[in-house]
Amino acid sequence: MTNPPLLRHDQTLFRDIDVFDPTYLPLHLAHRDAQTRELAYLIDPALRGGTPGNAILRGPPGTGKTTTVRTVFAEVEKATGKVVPVYINCRQNHTLLAVYRCIAGHLLGYTPRSRHLDDIREGIAARLVETGAILLVCLDDANYLVAADTYNILLYQLLRLYERWDVRGAGVFAVTSDLRLNLYTEADGPVRSVFHPHEVTFLPYATTEIREILGERVQQGLYPGVVPRGVLDLIARMTADAGDIRVGIDLVRGAAIRAEGEGRRRVTRGDVTAASSVLGSPVLAARAAALSEGERALLYRIAEQSLSGG
Ligand SMILES: Nc1ncnc2c1ncn2[C@@H]1O[C@H](COP(=O)(O)OP(=O)(O)O)[C@@H](O)[C@H]1O
Ligand SMILES: [Mg+2]
Repeated sequence: MTNPPLLRHDQTLFRDIDVFDPTYLPLHLAHRDAQTRELAYLIDPALRGGTPGNAILRGPPGTGKTTTVRTVFAEVEKATGKVVPVYINCRQNHTLLAVYRCIAGHLLGYTPRSRHLDDIREGIAARLVETGAILLVCLDDANYLVAADTYNILLYQLLRLYERWDVRGAGVFAVTSDLRLNLYTEADGPVRSVFHPHEVTFLPYATTEIREILGERVQQGLYPGVVPRGVLDLIARMTADAGDIRVGIDLVRGAAIRAEGEGRRRVTRGDVTAASSVLGSPVLAARAAALSEGERALLYRIAEQSLSGG
């Protein structure tokens, strides 16, 4: 077999490298119909002027939680001004001030200069009263709020907006990838009296689902023929083993960068292996952090046995 011609130095394998970016919102959200329907069902009352339902979204990293919420929120934003969805990354915003600034920024179109919480909350409420809109807040990676001790106060204030102002309480979708944490039992008594969340579960994607999702990403991001079918199958299997779809996206990107760096027009299995050795440890570390104590103890025992040749 003859080798395919090499790339010229000014040629690239990437049609659009941004589609491999962690914040990229896919054009098509596959295999998350059930979860999308559950969220739509909770939002539905708000579209008719009522109070939206609340949810806890739970599942290991890389199961599409953030993508599903962002897709649903984008649809709501397109469809109506009566419900204002605000997505908050709590890893980056876990103080009360930061969270309220995000909400105000979205609602008002600018971030208030004030550092006084009451002023900012007043501004948010005034806009909701003026427009008659209902707030829908996603607290993504809400475990960071629990760690910062702001989870209960925020939920309390958001769900009981009606106590101080003539507005509906917000709908709250709290999300976590930390399976050791139960976001419902973290809520204290006063919060639980108004927080009756519907639990939406995200299980890891099956290999065939991963294959399909990665196939679409490859089509959007790379030129035709860059990733041969067998190589994509290999990436899908490795991704299923890791249980995190992000691993697959990073592997495709890393392998294509390597092939391009060597002037080749096609990604090989060797590129995938090389990309996985660069990638491996942080992903595995994140997955180990999500294990329960029992699971981790078991993992240590297995590791010890294998080190001692058992
Ligand atoms: N069903 C899907 N279809 C297309 N892309 C997806 C899908 N689920 C996840 N992704 C992609 O995988 C990556 C990780 O998904 P994400 O929603 O951030 O996972 P989680 O929030 O559960 O950790 C994102 O880059 C996203 O674009
Ligand atoms: Mg996420």
